[in-house]
Amino acid sequence: MKLRPALFLGTILGLASVALADTGGLTVTVPPEGSVPMAEGLAAWDRINEVFTHPRCINCHVDADAVPLWTLMGETATRPHGMNIIGGESRIGAQTLTCSTCHVTSERPNTLPHAPPHANMDWQLAPVEFVWTGRTSSEICAQVRNPDTNGDRDLAGLIEHITHDAEVGGLISWGFNPGGGRDAAPGTLQSHLDDIIAWGIAGMPCPEE
Ligand code: HEC
Ligand code: HEC
Repeated sequence: MKLRPALFLGTILGLASVALADTGGLTVTVPPEGSVPMAEGLAAWDRINEVFTHPRCINCHVDADAVPLWTLMGETATRPHGMNIIGGESRIGAQTLTCSTCHVTSERPNTLPHAPPHANMDWQLAPVEFVWTGRTSSEICAQVRNPDTNGDRDLAGLIEHITHDAEVGGLISWGFNPGGGRDAAPGTLQSHLDDIIAWGIAGMPCPEE
């Protein structure tokens, strides 16, 4: 992806100047362009990919069949969500039983094992363009850096997506702090943000197949 330097830095500066109150407590530190070597960018991508393909993230980033996945506590196998749940084209189950029927929207922590997890954002599948199940690291990487398949986001947009999520207590934040005895995605939301920034500044390099 080509970084558009002026616009890009302008947006980042815009973000940095509203820091802290608006970043959900995350620190946005953007090193100068060209300062992160390709090898470091690729290493950051490997860590990002480990997060994206962790059950706490990938179980919602599913294909057009729109069946969310379950990885139950004490199990490593991933299987289709019980109770015949289907997100449908709406990705929120509007045609059948909405996710929010069981996954309420609430700031309260997740405590009980086996209860439907919740976040302070409406529970739903990721849009189908963001499918990560069954994809390789290099395929996911190509998708995430392409504005056509990442929700029209450049690096500043990806950063803002994470800081906004932290601010409201959304689905990404849940993945790093799922509660109820579930394994969290590796690292912290801050280290994930730092990796996204390093990867972006390195020019969003993707591994070969
Ligand atoms: C409950 C379901 C759910 C979970 C769990 C979830 N996501 Fe998502 N994800 C979504 C939805 C819905 C969107 C679309 C929101 C948007 O684009 O604003 C999304 C969009 C994204 C995007 C932007 C699109 C893209 O592909 O570039 C990223 C990045 C992302 N999620 C990362 C994560 C990470 C990292 C985790 C785990 C820590 C995670 N998600 C867990 C539902 C989920
Ligand atoms: C009838 C109630 C119900 C509905 C409706 C429902 N879920 Fe769930 N969901 C649950 C329960 C209960 C669990 C926890 C299961 C456990 O841990 O034993 C769960 C867990 C999950 C998990 C966590 C899996 C993991 O391993 O982290 C995801 C993701 C999920 N649901 C997505 C969805 C999506 C997306 C929808 C809407 C398309 C939805 N659910 C609709 C009851 C429901």
